[in-house]
Amino acid sequence: MGHYLPDRVVTNAEFEASVDTSDEWIRARTGIEQRHFAAEGQTTSDLARRAAEAALENAGLKADDIDAIVLATSTADLTFPSAATMVQHALGMTRGFAFDVQAVCAGFVYALTNANALIVSGQAERILVIGAETFSRIMDWSDRTTCVLFGDGAGALILEAQEGQGSSADRGILATDLNSDGRHRDILYVDGGVSTQSTGHLRMQGKEVFRHAVEKLAKTAETALARAGLGHDDIDWIVPHQANLRIITATAKKLNHPMDRVIVTVQDHGNTSAASIPLALSVGSAEGRIKQGDLLVTEAIGGGLAWGSVVLRW
Ligand code: UT7
Repeated sequence: MGHYLPDRVVTNAEFEASVDTSDEWIRARTGIEQRHFAAEGQTTSDLARRAAEAALENAGLKADDIDAIVLATSTADLTFPSAATMVQHALGMTRGFAFDVQAVCAGFVYALTNANALIVSGQAERILVIGAETFSRIMDWSDRTTCVLFGDGAGALILEAQEGQGSSADRGILATDLNSDGRHRDILYVDGGVSTQSTGHLRMQGKEVFRHAVEKLAKTAETALARAGLGHDDIDWIVPHQANLRIITATAKKLNHPMDRVIVTVQDHGNTSAASIPLALSVGSAEGRIKQGDLLVTEAIGGGLAWGSVVLRW
């Protein structure tokens, strides 16, 4: 694992000068205390490259040891090429393949699921799976209901093929569950894009998204757990998408799981969309909380709506 956060830390109090909000409201309603914003000119692929370098160093690997890069983002540097190929080049990786996955806040769960499928089908043995975002670029700074929620950052994980026993005691990805429902487009979207010829800003009906999150996240986690032949009691750590502490708490409660066994980083990073789970995994493992052999459940929901869960043994 590795991660990277841009240097600039923005506290809740900084928003009080520009919109009608307060540190107290943001903490109480979301759990967020601060977030990081990319510097001018710093792009998603820059953040992703730094996280990837940290993961490679951590694993004792070189870029050419990697067969593929799967990068989850909704805020790629350019319309094309993919941010993943930019990272491939920046790392000096001269073989293999790289592509982006776009499933907004569920992006890392989708990317992990795709990377696992590539490994299981024998198309790659080592894959760098990255979540990286610069959501600060798509904020409407006059909209207090969204601009205080999001941050920038990147996290990277290296998946490697290994023979296992085919049981839930194996390390690695044990089961996954992906879902989407395009009928809910209007509750979380960006009002611009290539074919509408603008970048656009994030628009969200927060209460509605909240309602779907609380209903869907525990369900997708339970589906993935059942596919792995496991139940609530087998979970060592929940590593959730970090959008709102109240959603994280409600989901843990539904899974009958204590909050001291949930990795929570939302207070420090805000909502970093596809980067939030790999950031939390990286922080949790760097702090020595997540240990080899632990059973982890990740879950996320975002624009689409798209949501899902991955059950893995560390
Ligand atoms: O990662 C992608 C998925 N996204 C999410 O999971 C986000 C899900 N939604 C949420 O996290 C929450 O719905 C929010 C944090 C966005 C909002 O919290 P809420 O408890 O649902 O608040 P609300 O939208 O019901 O708003 C309550 C009040 C409203 O005022 P009135 O109408 O009661 O007078 C809002 O206008 O709070 C007001 N409000 C604010 N007040 C101060 C909304 N944003 C702010 C703000 N500062 N920044």
